[in-house]
Amino acid sequence: MLLDVRSLEAGYGPSQVLFGPSFSIREGEVVTLLGRNGMGKTTTVRCLSGLLKPMRGEIWFNGKRIDGAPPHAIAHAGLGLVPEGRRIFANLSVRENLQMAGIRRPDRRDPWSFERVLDFFPRLSERLSNGGNQLSGGEQQMLAIGRALMTNPHLLVLDEATEGLAPIIRQQIWAKLEALKATGLAMIVIDKELDALVRFADRHFVVEKGEIVWRGDSAALEADQNVQDAYLGV
Ligand SMILES: Nc1ncnc2c1ncn2[C@@H]1O[C@H](COP(=O)(O)OP(=O)(O)OP(=O)(O)O)[C@@H](O)[C@H]1O
Ligand SMILES: [Mg+2]
Repeated sequence: MLLDVRSLEAGYGPSQVLFGPSFSIREGEVVTLLGRNGMGKTTTVRCLSGLLKPMRGEIWFNGKRIDGAPPHAIAHAGLGLVPEGRRIFANLSVRENLQMAGIRRPDRRDPWSFERVLDFFPRLSERLSNGGNQLSGGEQQMLAIGRALMTNPHLLVLDEATEGLAPIIRQQIWAKLEALKATGLAMIVIDKELDALVRFADRHFVVEKGEIVWRGDSAALEADQNVQDAYLGV
């Protein structure tokens, strides 16, 4: 298992949000966390990336227990985050945003470098000196993904990577994610675009009030109108 989440409990102050979801991801697998607003998807991602310390439960990544570890240690362990809202540094240039994110992994066969990220997102190479705040939404998203790739992740976690983007830009982002999947990169994807997720991902976990209430592959999800009606509001 690349990632193994066991009975995760977490919340904010006195209010508990996650009530013990367990799920795991294999090398090279693409999975989604589905569910309506406020069900705990981002809270799960915050626990995985070290931004929120779980109250109970365990998170195992690449053979190491990482729950409660600080974000930089988890990034070094190989978990790359494209956070909700992108969170690029608005007052740093595109070049600085990318370069400061870099983590080298000498053992890596085909590592991501500054140059390789620019080859992958040519649009960014035209914007290197621009500040994060001068980019379009699509460019900001490319930068957020590029920044995560600079960490040479074993697992890429994308929280609403197409949110607020025009349809044509969303398509471009999905095409890039397909290309990353083809390299064998494992991913957790959270998105509102269910059709795209069904096409793109291998397996799905439906989160409802901080618990996983359904799990299965894309064919099973497409065939199950009940789960779509009950938990996905489609
Ligand atoms: N920083 C916070 N402080 C207090 N409560 C929070 C905080 N962030 C989220 N919550 C609450 O935790 C619950 C789960 O939120 P979370 O952001 O994990 O949902 P989500 O599934 O990612 O939803 P969305 O689809 O809207 O992004 C919600 O009730 C939300 O109001
Ligand atoms: Mg969210």
